[in-house]
Amino acid sequence: MAESNKPAKLAVTNQKGGVGKTTVAINVAGALADRGNEVLFVDLDPQGNATENLGLMEAYDAEPPTLFDALTDPEQRETVRDLVYAHDEMDVLPSNIDMTAAEPELTLSRRSGEQLDLVLAELETAYDYIIVDCPPNLGNLMDNALFATQNVLIPALAESTSKRAFELLYDHIGALERDYEITIRDRGVVINRIDVRKKQAQDMIEWIHNAFDNVPVWEVRERASIQYALEEGVSLLQYESDGDMAQVFREIAVDLDDQFGGEIDG
Ligand SMILES: Nc1ncnc2c1ncn2[C@@H]1O[C@H](COP(=O)(O)OP(=O)(O)O)[C@@H](O)[C@H]1O
Ligand SMILES: [Mg+2]
Repeated sequence: MAESNKPAKLAVTNQKGGVGKTTVAINVAGALADRGNEVLFVDLDPQGNATENLGLMEAYDAEPPTLFDALTDPEQRETVRDLVYAHDEMDVLPSNIDMTAAEPELTLSRRSGEQLDLVLAELETAYDYIIVDCPPNLGNLMDNALFATQNVLIPALAESTSKRAFELLYDHIGALERDYEITIRDRGVVINRIDVRKKQAQDMIEWIHNAFDNVPVWEVRERASIQYALEEGVSLLQYESDGDMAQVFREIAVDLDDQFGGEIDG
């Protein structure tokens, strides 16, 4: 990727819980790292699933200062430099139990949606990519992820409930774009946990491909190995790099490198 465009920032987002934000974020980050990119993974979900899945439970339970302090207290912003952990595949800015108090606390700050951007500015020159795993609601933390990255990758299930989830998400993104006078770009949709035996899944896959005909749409199957990898604290690229789903994440990484790298040339 060209130097001037670094780092590329991407929020993995959908306010619906359990669709695979964390799973997709970790595997996309792993696949980008596997291609030689320096990746920072940011867990912005107060539940800390990604932090746990990346084997950093001790960071989740750590005493202050944590990401909460860096986000909510401008005077502690630069403490974030000491909060980055080294994982085998990527660097990680973990969530913390204190993040459960961030949502109301951020409401009090004047520029409530811009705090993460300011925090990442303390770090970001070292990375090719910053991947942000979002919480499952349309609140301040999600706004911070959207403002800081201005790029989204959307995991969704092959279920009819996803239509409403897309509507709510795009309404929210549109409102944020107007409020902050920014443009948030769609980098792709990942249809996740596909069970090919279900007829409804086939219909929904077709619907998503039609609805998103100008962005890439990838298909990830329901696979035990995806859960096993997370239980081992690594991405599929490390757990089962020759598997077909590792290959899908590799394709996503190639495409993102094209999209972000191509921007300066084109
Ligand atoms: N493709 C998949 N195959 C099997 N299990 C999956 C897959 N994607 C996600 N999961 C599992 O589904 C659950 C929810 O996924 P997660 O990534 O935590 O969703 P979210 O972050 O959107 O809440 C997790 O237990 C995860 O291991
Ligand atoms: Mg999650």
